[in-house]
Amino acid sequence: MKTLIFSFFFLLVSSLSYGLPADWGKTGHRATGAIAQKYLSKKAKREIEKLLDGQSLALVSTFADEIKSDDNYREYAPWHYVNFPFDSNYDIHPKSDKGDLYMAIQKCMEVLKDDNATKEKKAFHLKLLVHFLGDLHQPLHVGMAEDRGGNRFQVQWFDEGTNLHSVWDEKIIESYQMSYTELAKNSKKLSKNELQNIQNGSVKDWMYESRGLCEQIYKTTISGDNLGYLYMYDYVDVVRSQLQKGGIRLAVLLNDIFK
Ligand code: ADE
Ligand code: ZN
Ligand code: ZN
Repeated sequence: MKTLIFSFFFLLVSSLSYGLPADWGKTGHRATGAIAQKYLSKKAKREIEKLLDGQSLALVSTFADEIKSDDNYREYAPWHYVNFPFDSNYDIHPKSDKGDLYMAIQKCMEVLKDDNATKEKKAFHLKLLVHFLGDLHQPLHVGMAEDRGGNRFQVQWFDEGTNLHSVWDEKIIESYQMSYTELAKNSKKLSKNELQNIQNGSVKDWMYESRGLCEQIYKTTISGDNLGYLYMYDYVDVVRSQLQKGGIRLAVLLNDIFK
């Protein structure tokens, strides 16, 4: 009987956590972490290895999603996204006092640069930073509050009901059927110039780049649409490019923090 009750609760808990939105999804976040790893300086690699006790950036990239269902970490939930209207901008739009994705990235960098922060606090914020650079490159995480970044924008994906946010978090990546290591290994070969262009700019510039993509997505997607191969082929390169940019730019920030 005990085993039966235990199994029931196990199934209940796993089905509840399965239903939570997971942003880029594990594959996307891990790909960003694995790509960043390739662009780290020696010093950054060493310092990160010490802080994370040898865990890879890919492995810790999903930590911020794993703590989402824990009430003790509720304050971090609004840190995964930033919303403002299309006809406004981040600087003039009133900020949420609970924080947002842009503010979260600044906070993580501040802790990692603070000589007085404990190893534990730094490790925690490093794991969050790895995740949030991924989120920053998911266009619908720089979205609009009305439809909760597309979570309330209903569409179908290969005849099954879902929402636009979920299509961009994971459906496109899932349908592409590549593991995170394959995505990292097969990311586009970049010229020096292309690489430099990606590395340039500020976190805010990168946020607005995502916002530009988000606007484009809203122009090309109609509520209730049945999306499939055409949509996937139109956008899979955008997704792959965003994962690559997220990884390269995460390394830019980490190389600067641990210089
Ligand atoms: N909840 C509200 N807005 C959101 C967004 N842009 N992305 C993810 N979750 C959200
Ligand atoms: Zn998401
Ligand atoms: Zn997230």
